[in-house]
Amino acid sequence: MLIGIPKEIKNHEYRVGATPAMARALVEAGHQLLVQKDAGTQIGFSDSLYREAGARIVNTPTEVYACEMIIKVKELQEEEFPLLHKGQILFCYLHLAPDPIQTKHLVESGVVAIAYETVTDVYGRLPLLVPMSEIAGRIAIQVGATCLQMNHGGKGRLLGGVPGVSPASVTIIGGGIVGTEAARMAMGLGASVTLIDKDLNRLRTLDSLFGPHLKTLYSTSTAIEESLISADLVIGAVLIPGKTAPKLITSQMIKKMSAGSVLVDVAIDQGGCAETSRPTTHTTPTYVVDGVVHYCVTNMPGACALTSTQALTNATMDYAMKIADKGYKQALYDHPGLRDGLNVCLGLVTNESVASDLGYPYTPPMKVLS
Ligand SMILES: NC(=O)c1ccc[n+]([C@@H]2O[C@H](COP(=O)([O-])OP(=O)(O)OC[C@H]3O[C@@H](n4cnc5c(N)ncnc54)[C@H](O)[C@@H]3O)[C@@H](O)[C@H]2O)c1
Repeated sequence: MLIGIPKEIKNHEYRVGATPAMARALVEAGHQLLVQKDAGTQIGFSDSLYREAGARIVNTPTEVYACEMIIKVKELQEEEFPLLHKGQILFCYLHLAPDPIQTKHLVESGVVAIAYETVTDVYGRLPLLVPMSEIAGRIAIQVGATCLQMNHGGKGRLLGGVPGVSPASVTIIGGGIVGTEAARMAMGLGASVTLIDKDLNRLRTLDSLFGPHLKTLYSTSTAIEESLISADLVIGAVLIPGKTAPKLITSQMIKKMSAGSVLVDVAIDQGGCAETSRPTTHTTPTYVVDGVVHYCVTNMPGACALTSTQALTNATMDYAMKIADKGYKQALYDHPGLRDGLNVCLGLVTNESVASDLGYPYTPPMKVLS
């Protein structure tokens, strides 16, 4: 199969859809790779490394997007919409539920769009979201601690405190991958951490993983509000797969938080879990509402693009290989977890959550494939 690896164009996005090692594996399996010039240069993957791996370097996105399959990282940006063509396979993060414009373009272009974030494994987990969530959860505490500094608009509280001075209070809403890694980092830095989830079994698992240092709470609006009032740093980490994030933090709750507190809404890529959240970029990552610093960057792992690219491609490589080896129809037919990743196919919306959130008729993937 002819596979294209474009250079990412989202703000401060330096990740790339395939490392030279992944490129080499695909070439060794008999596929042809076109990599856009400088696609990985910023993170040390030079064009010559891709050439040595057997890929061909091309100058323009137009040449890359002429390929049968595109492997990239982030959802398409406006400039990329006109480059799509009917029947083309698109394998990347899409986050369509809160994005009607991208969804419309994917439907109209007739592409086969397989979203990393809804691919499942045999346990029903999200194997292609996990590595980026692990990274985003860890970054959330680093950026949250920075935002708490006076020079970033925060209240001037050090996350871990010092002997004789209390540490900061961190509230994490959602105890999945992002929440767990955020809790690990925050506790590692000495903060006092409360984690809220609606899944009691998840809370039990976290309780036995972290012991009494982690305070766990069952998710109700009362628990969230009470915890927010005393929190210095709040991490939004909820997910209902494929759906727009529930607005668990209301504007009224934000008003009750103390000035200089910080909200890092990691769930912003699914629309955010606070009524006051709106997407920001690495260039201007924060804004203030009612004295609370909001950090809502939709591509947080892009800040650690080298680690993120390696972690992401470790997870995507097998799936990309299956699609390239078998063609999308056979690959999706043979692998139910990969099939869960099919969001849009030849003009039809094939993910139930995206269809219901955006008002499209839902077509089950098997119906399109047959
Ligand atoms: N901004 C970024 O750059 C970035 C990067 C990676 C992941 N993310 C996003 O972070 C979010 C979390 O991802 P994840 O991999 O940790 O998901 P996950 O599925 O592992 O965890 C989500 C958790 O939210 C909990 N939850 C659902 N509804 C809840 C409610 N009403 N109250 C409390 N908890 C609730 C679930 O029980 C689950 O434990 C997703 O939206 C993901 O797309 C964003």
